[in-house]
Amino acid sequence: MRPVQRIAFFFIASFFFKGYILTIVKFIQGRNQVSLLLLIGCQWGDEGKGKVVDVLSHKVDMVARYQGGNNAGHTVVIQGKQYILHLIPSGILHEGVSCLIGNGVVVDPLVLKQEIDALETKGVKIRDRLYISQNAHLIMPYHCLVDKSVEKMRGKAKLGTTGRGIGYAYSDKTLRHGVRMLDFLDKDRFVQKVQAALDYHSPLMNRFTEEKPPSVQDMIDQVFSLSEYFREMIVDGVSLVNQYLDEGKKVLAEGAQGVMLDIDFGTYPFVTSSNPTPGGVCSGLGISPFRISGMLGVVKAYTTRVGSGPMPTELLDETGDLLRERGREYGATTGRPRRCGWFDAVVLRRALQLTGIKDIAVTKLDVLDSLDALKICTAYKYKGKTIDLFPFGLEDTEGLEPVYETLPGWEGLTRGVENYDDLPSRAKTYLETIEDLIKAKIVLVSIGPGRENTIVRNPDFWG
Ligand code: GDP
Ligand code: IMO
Ligand code: MG
Repeated sequence: MRPVQRIAFFFIASFFFKGYILTIVKFIQGRNQVSLLLLIGCQWGDEGKGKVVDVLSHKVDMVARYQGGNNAGHTVVIQGKQYILHLIPSGILHEGVSCLIGNGVVVDPLVLKQEIDALETKGVKIRDRLYISQNAHLIMPYHCLVDKSVEKMRGKAKLGTTGRGIGYAYSDKTLRHGVRMLDFLDKDRFVQKVQAALDYHSPLMNRFTEEKPPSVQDMIDQVFSLSEYFREMIVDGVSLVNQYLDEGKKVLAEGAQGVMLDIDFGTYPFVTSSNPTPGGVCSGLGISPFRISGMLGVVKAYTTRVGSGPMPTELLDETGDLLRERGREYGATTGRPRRCGWFDAVVLRRALQLTGIKDIAVTKLDVLDSLDALKICTAYKYKGKTIDLFPFGLEDTEGLEPVYETLPGWEGLTRGVENYDDLPSRAKTYLETIEDLIKAKIVLVSIGPGRENTIVRNPDFWG
């Protein structure tokens, strides 16, 4: 090599080497600098998201909800006191944490007012901490009316919705006659939007319900009358959340429902009307996908579901009843008994494929404490094939047979254990079998509803 070639080679090589080193440094720094953590339920909802958000909230400056509405019921237990949150992010129970209801959420103002009032009565400070995106759509009383009536009309084919008007508020949004939070600040706009929506809904209501459709004046009296109550909370949510992130503050995006209830990827039509999956956080808060710097999946140690639709590992026997009673598996929103069954790795594989989640929090391990044997569904036998990824288009479980691996139970108490290593060895085997089957790392294990009933297995998770 001639000297000039050698010098050129040196410059080019050092340029690439420097880039390489910088990339490694950035990667290492980035791993511990999660600024927006996305938390998603990975089954059919009620995985214990509220509890896990509460446990993580001391690490953040803001908790933001990005989809769903008051179909959600997130229960948090602090020093024996129970709080059920439907619309307000679970971070509200940590003083100093701001909470945002993002534009992707559908907000029933009557329910939200009740929730705020109930929390204030319990001594939780709300003012100057709770913000609502001006672009969030309102759930109006006529949405609830239509939801309940259509479900009734469907009879046996009902979806088992929560009756909270969720699907109808989202459909008005896409039909472009929805009423938004910002319309709440301007009576003329409110009247105009409600009139357009009622023109559409009234003939349907006349068909589906015996009740007289509400008038615009009814909506002014029942809904617009609350606008002053909310005025100070209605903000440009997109600027707020992006400003927090620009300032290096930490934000936790709290999903509602779960991947299998996602409108696009869940067990359609037995789903909700929004996207709990990661795309929902971008459109539901107004943030770039580049902002998402970490994800945590919340996974119950067994499976539950409320409402209709396929659930391959459902147990209709005394073990199912035992899970329901020990796990207090009754809906936090409707009080309906939840359907209970064995852990389903087939569901989880699909959930992790769709979300890209690698880290999970496993909840309600303690509910399995008394069982002498546990089953984990590893695959399904379906139409002559063995499948290990939840199939799309499955509307019932006829002809589908779960394939189970049976593990011995630990028949001992997990409540009170503080370190992962101190869990009964069979409980660890159960958890690690799940890890192997779904190829994810368990970073947190929940062994009771309280904040203190939590084992942080990987304290470095999220900085
Ligand atoms: P979310 O909708 O995902 O927030 O879940 P829900 O709050 O609707 O349902 C979870 C229920 O289980 C709530 O009643 C929680 O208080 C409770 N819970 C959460 N984690 C645990 C746990 O590890 N063990 C037990 N026994 N209960 C838990
Ligand atoms: P969290 O956030 C469990 C279910 C309903 C029904 C279907 C459609 O507490 O996990 P909808 O009222 O949304 O139109 O009902 O979705 N569902 C939930 N199931 N947990 C939830 O929320 C749910 N939100 C909706 O039971 O089957
Ligand atoms: Mg719930």
